Amino acid sequence: MDKFVITGGNKIKGSIDISGSKNSVLPILAATLLISDTCIINNVPRLRDVYTMVELLKYYGAEVEFDESIKINCSNIENKPPSEKVKDIRASFLLVGALLGRFKRVSMFMPGGCNIGQRPVDLHLKGFSVLGANQILECGIIDIFTKYLNGGEVYLDFPSVGATENVILAAVMAKGRTVISNCAIEPEIVDLADFLTKAGAKISGAGSDTIIVDGVDSLKGVEHSVIPDRIEAGTFMLAVAGTGGQCRINNVITEHIKPVILKLREMEVDITEEDDAVVVYSNGNIVNTDIKTMPYPGFPTDMQAQFTALMSKGAGTGIVNETVFENRFMHIGELIKMGANIAVEGRTAVVRGVETLAGAEVKATDLRAGAALIISALSAEGTTEIGNIHYIDRGYEMIEKKLSAVGCEIKRIEG
Ligand code: UD1
Repeated sequence: MDKFVITGGNKIKGSIDISGSKNSVLPILAATLLISDTCIINNVPRLRDVYTMVELLKYYGAEVEFDESIKINCSNIENKPPSEKVKDIRASFLLVGALLGRFKRVSMFMPGGCNIGQRPVDLHLKGFSVLGANQILECGIIDIFTKYLNGGEVYLDFPSVGATENVILAAVMAKGRTVISNCAIEPEIVDLADFLTKAGAKISGAGSDTIIVDGVDSLKGVEHSVIPDRIEAGTFMLAVAGTGGQCRINNVITEHIKPVILKLREMEVDITEEDDAVVVYSNGNIVNTDIKTMPYPGFPTDMQAQFTALMSKGAGTGIVNETVFENRFMHIGELIKMGANIAVEGRTAVVRGVETLAGAEVKATDLRAGAALIISALSAEGTTEIGNIHYIDRGYEMIEKKLSAVGCEIKRIEG
């Protein structure tokens, strides 16, 4: 298995370009299953999860060309039993809404828990059932079927990103109106709605807590550019804050990373916002603050591990409260190996900043936990080896190349 070897202490200087959003492109790719025509998707990040999703679309019969962009035609897809490959990524459950919309019947493996929590799909299933779909669960495979999908009123007990996306996908070609209340308002939901609207769907309210979908008979091919990845942007901002230095982070929508910008400013990091960039300046001296993760526009859970890593070397004590996932502190054991002083009690971590972190042998336990270890390694004394970096490859495009280009000492060792 590949690992990263990082020698800390170099200040970051230069500029980094942010790639397209992983969490946008995955539902958009799933949505192409609804369209019997050619779609072109631009600004696609080259990530393991994206390649897996493309393989899954091909499994159902999609014709795909993946060069600069993804050109995809789902005219001749057929419904099939689920491929074992769906188990590789949780986002494959988004295929359910799209296949249900297209065929009115779908079989899929039920996703299991993962490193960051149980992650049930009860809200997705509730949405499909409101639209009239029956469900039978047998031997880990859920069969969802109906003669007609009819619009209905879906209340999400929690504003789940995936459930909001899945219900939208099932509703766009249902008969009549679907209203999704207490839905997620993440930018990735808006991007999916924009893609589908260009394709002829009738969706209003995306980005607010109530989305209305009026079913249409068919959708047409479109060209769409995926929004920039706000979590990748935030991760690099924290890397600069931790090492000290100055870096322009290009291709960002600053509105999408407001909590990251404002929290970093509380920590005395200097940030200038431009039209589609942020310039981060830091002398490496961070003052700790408290964070509490929440659905958008609150502080993103996908940035919690990275902030915890940054705070490990900050001045004073910071409290981290993880409210979205029940088990998202796996990185803390690894940070402690590097000398961090962090105590966990349930969903709260108390981070007492230390003067220095020391390089160590650590392992990524999930995607963002891996990103957190990179942030700590870059500002630690000595050399850190990070194992299990296949997790990091799921969500960061060419991270070692991007960091090397701004002065970091990071090497991928193939294993
Ligand atoms: C998406 C993101 C992930 C991010 C998360 C929260 C993608 C591919 N992934 O994941 O990076 O961390 O949003 O911003 O976009 N829940 C239920 N029942 C459900 C669905 C969710 O209880 O049916 C719970 C989950 O267990 C979790 C919380 O709701 O505790 C949030 O999950 P959700 O918003 O659905 O996250 P994902 O869509 O899985």
